[in-house]
Amino acid sequence: MKLAKRIDRIQPSATLAMTSKAAELRAQGKDVLNMSVGEPDFNTPSNIISAAIDAMNNGHTRYTPGGGTKELKQAIQKKLQRDNNIHYELNEIIVSSGGKHSLYNACQALFEAGDEVIIFTPYWVSFPDFVSVTGATPVFVKTDAENQYQPVFDDLEAKITKNTKGIIINSPSNPTGGVWSDDAIRKTVDIARSHSLWVFSDECYEQLTYSQKYNSTYDLCSDYDRILTFQSCSKTYAMTGWRIGYTCGDSAVISAMSKLQGQSTSCPNSIAQYAAMEALTGDQSFVADMKKAFNIRRDLIVDRLNSMEGVTCDIPGGAFYVFPSFKEIINRNVSGNNIKSALDLCMMLLEKKLVVSVSGESFGANNNIRFSYATSEKVINDAMDRLEALLNEI
Ligand SMILES: Cc1ncc(COP(=O)(O)O)c(C=O)c1O
Repeated sequence: MKLAKRIDRIQPSATLAMTSKAAELRAQGKDVLNMSVGEPDFNTPSNIISAAIDAMNNGHTRYTPGGGTKELKQAIQKKLQRDNNIHYELNEIIVSSGGKHSLYNACQALFEAGDEVIIFTPYWVSFPDFVSVTGATPVFVKTDAENQYQPVFDDLEAKITKNTKGIIINSPSNPTGGVWSDDAIRKTVDIARSHSLWVFSDECYEQLTYSQKYNSTYDLCSDYDRILTFQSCSKTYAMTGWRIGYTCGDSAVISAMSKLQGQSTSCPNSIAQYAAMEALTGDQSFVADMKKAFNIRRDLIVDRLNSMEGVTCDIPGGAFYVFPSFKEIINRNVSGNNIKSALDLCMMLLEKKLVVSVSGESFGANNNIRFSYATSEKVINDAMDRLEALLNEI
């Protein structure tokens, strides 16, 4: 069978693949510790669940406008004003079936063959694929691992060509947890502005920064109108399965995304849209409580990793991932060292110790492994015990 060429331009999601691998092993009765999850381990708060039940009882179970209900867009406006100090008009907002859908649609609306799009390495696994599927080319720019993975600006300037059309910022970052300083964001936007590039600001972890206040890219650079702001209910409100995300920015781009959505998914789930209204404008105490728990776990896992010989882990400023380097172990020149890559180590950790993680190669970083700490302190400690035991054996 001959499938369309665009399918060959994309890869299956490595993180989702590890999640299903963990489920498979668990189904075989194995004592698996899953450190690969990309979602909070908390349940959706009960006020949000109640709002969904009320929506169903009140008959909000039908198609909505393709780009989301007016009421939800108004709730998004309120949220953006309250948390991010930014304002968008209703025709500058679109609700999608998750932030991923929003990002995919925006790439479809703006990029095509011949275009180049800047992505910072290490990157979230989906960014290159969102770009490639449009026919455009992802172009990778280096970052500084010791400085929250902020851009290496010389490399950024060097990689921009007359074909560059966009640049994707993701702070706090998946997979590194890195949070860029306001200056780094401003400098990146200034460079983008001087080449009239579209700036995608993926802010899905905006509520999860531990040592600095988060400032939205558009708040920092409100005089540049080619910024698209992407946010999501998934991580902030433990609503990954509800599939609600949104994009705000230029009304022509938003309307193009709406057109695409109208001819593909029709509209985001109606019940989830009502739940999202409650999430965005109701009681916010859950967010602070979850963040407190993540902060404790981050400190725990960073300490554990740094106490292991050959492992270095910088303190990530946000999200719920650590991205330690195993460079010393991978490059260790001793006989019998059969760990030649992060993937080898990651697979060994899975096969010998039943700990699921995601190797750095899928994020464009060959010496690192991503561990998610969206799990209990007990699981974190047990997984770190197993990693330490493995490292002592090799
Ligand atoms: C960096 C980043 N952006 C966007 C998303 C999309 O999340 P969702 O589609 O659940 O809103 C994710 C999810 O893992 C992510 O890590």
